[in-house]
Amino acid sequence: MDAIIQLFSGVNRLAPGSPGITEKAFRIASAGRSIASIYEPGCGNGAATLLLAELSTAHITAIDTCQEFLDWLTQRIDQVGCSDRVALLNRDMTESWPKTAQFDLIWCEGSVYNMGLDQALCGWKNLLSPGGRVAISDLVWTSRAPSQEIQDFWKADGVTLLHHEEAAARFAANGYRLLDSFVFPEQAWQNYYGPLVEQLAPYLEPFSASNDMRALATAFQKEIRMRREFGGEYEYVFFIAEL
Ligand SMILES: C[S@@+](CC[C@H](N)C(=O)[O-])C[C@H]1O[C@@H](n2cnc3c(N)ncnc32)[C@H](O)[C@@H]1O
Repeated sequence: MDAIIQLFSGVNRLAPGSPGITEKAFRIASAGRSIASIYEPGCGNGAATLLLAELSTAHITAIDTCQEFLDWLTQRIDQVGCSDRVALLNRDMTESWPKTAQFDLIWCEGSVYNMGLDQALCGWKNLLSPGGRVAISDLVWTSRAPSQEIQDFWKADGVTLLHHEEAAARFAANGYRLLDSFVFPEQAWQNYYGPLVEQLAPYLEPFSASNDMRALATAFQKEIRMRREFGGEYEYVFFIAEL
């Protein structure tokens, strides 16, 4: 089993967030529009998928490249009895879809970095029904002059952050109308990092884990420390927009 999958097995979410945040974004995204179909790229183990199934009557197509997350989510979807309208596919979100695919809403919590915001907004236009909507949460700078240490950290992690205002401007630049956006409260980070800290602990003990596992646990420990030290300089933001 991959170290990352081992680390996240049994954890309910793979990015900052909360049910309340997903629900708030869904209310905005579905206001004044019927949502019959949702595409969710990078669904992970389904923190949002299950809630979207509960909040809507839509048919949901959720994809991820991690089969273990999909297997876990399949069980949970079966348990809540909505497998007839949730399709889970092992599929790469960077690959294009057949031209016939049309969705009323594209939901992407914590996963757009796999494509980059511009590429996602541009590529997803073909997948949306007329007037279709997107709900995307992403990591952005809130500081105009972030500390060098935190810039270096995210760069080394391969994550590119735009400033909050620049990210918001990308929607109009790609032909969307931004309906709303909101910053995640600090509790959303705790919901992610709290359970993760407990998962990390055993792997940080000397001689307790493989080198890969300890290196990964150490990297996440650093990410959590970075949040404590530089959390005022970057945030998670939900953007909801219409084509
Ligand atoms: C930070 S997690 C977010 C998962 C989930 N949306 C959540 O909020 O808990 C990112 C997810 O993207 C998936 N992923 C990475 N690259 C991908 C790709 N090219 N196509 C589809 N999924 C991908 C990972 O397996 C992981 O589940």
